Amino acid sequence: MSADKRPLRVGLIGFGCVGQGFYDIVQQLPAAAIDVARIVVKSPSKPRSLPPSRFEFDADALLADPSLDVLIEVIDDAAEAFRLVSGALRQGRRVVTANKAMLARHLPALRELERTHGGALLYEAAVAGSIPILRTLDGYFGAEPLRAVSGIINGSSNYVLTRMAEDGSDYAQALAEAQARGFAETDPTLDMAAFDPRSKAVLLAAHAFGLALNPDEILNLGIENITPRDLAHAEVRGLKIKVVAHLERLADGRVGAVVLPRFVGPSSPLFTVEHETNGVLIEAAFGGPQFLRGKGAGGHPTGSAVLADVAALRAGYRYGYAKTPSESDSAPALATDLELEVYLRHEDEHLPRQLGLRDLSAEQRGAGRRFSVGYVRLDALRERRDELRAAGAFVAATGASRVAAVQREALAPSLAL
Ligand code: HSE
Repeated sequence: MSADKRPLRVGLIGFGCVGQGFYDIVQQLPAAAIDVARIVVKSPSKPRSLPPSRFEFDADALLADPSLDVLIEVIDDAAEAFRLVSGALRQGRRVVTANKAMLARHLPALRELERTHGGALLYEAAVAGSIPILRTLDGYFGAEPLRAVSGIINGSSNYVLTRMAEDGSDYAQALAEAQARGFAETDPTLDMAAFDPRSKAVLLAAHAFGLALNPDEILNLGIENITPRDLAHAEVRGLKIKVVAHLERLADGRVGAVVLPRFVGPSSPLFTVEHETNGVLIEAAFGGPQFLRGKGAGGHPTGSAVLADVAALRAGYRYGYAKTPSESDSAPALATDLELEVYLRHEDEHLPRQLGLRDLSAEQRGAGRRFSVGYVRLDALRERRDELRAAGAFVAATGASRVAAVQREALAPSLAL
């Protein structure tokens, strides 16, 4: 630690799992010289681990306090988080947030506020918990083009999949465990239906490819409808099912982006990423593959990423967004004309045809267990996502994909999407 550190005065907005985790870490690290000077929470009546005198209830009072060097926003209300973070940036403040849902909707506006008013916004804790993925992409790989970024970036769904596969735990019981351990969002549908990793994929796309996406543009399918039979289908083939966010640059410069369950084999580093652990594979154009793994959820792991951001702000660090195209460059486009090979398990005999599933390589029509394996257009899956969820269908990508027929010849014949 350098000796010239005056304590950094921090205002903490939110004292849930992440806020408490960060606070606890700071108490154990006096050498970090971080003084959590003021803490704001929403509910006065909720029992907490610190005396009531430590808490106040007006977040705007922290924004109005110029003695605070850094503001940390770790609440789970995305609209309020945007109001607070944008208000702080409008004052040119230094801000840390972990709110991926808010960032995924508002990143361009927040970047503009950061640029205009001279503040700084860091959010490492918003993606993959303790893994320093954003700074790795933004800083280390700022100059090198990337081929792909692919990973398990939701701890709760990975925890549920692991528990169901390892000892046949029931889905509801495994989810209750993930909630009790502080991994899940307040609304666990965000985890289980893959809305949470979709938000994180938007942030990865911005830093890895300079792509400004609206989350609704990315297909997200989750594991709400998974059954032990789906897991058995994978197991007998020596595979596991993992929810994988996959971003990949195509040969024509466009980027494919999907978040959905996927069959993963032992040759993939994701195969052994279990419980709440996350893992991200970066494929750099010259450096080749790199793999980062670490705890993806929980108070201390996520609090450690907040700590890293606070320390980085002290050192004057800001994201460079080096991949963002300059005004004279054309922005990379999202590829929507892809076809994915999927396993579709369903109860409705009409579903494969309605979805346009074709080039079937496997099919079973037995009572109580219908499945088909074939190619489907990405946009058909995206448009019918809610119908599939409501119908109890489960979809998992095999890993094979191709560009839809009309452009197929011009591009790579087989993508790993
Ligand atoms: N609910 C999130 C997860 C928390 O399970 O990954 C960390 O972002």
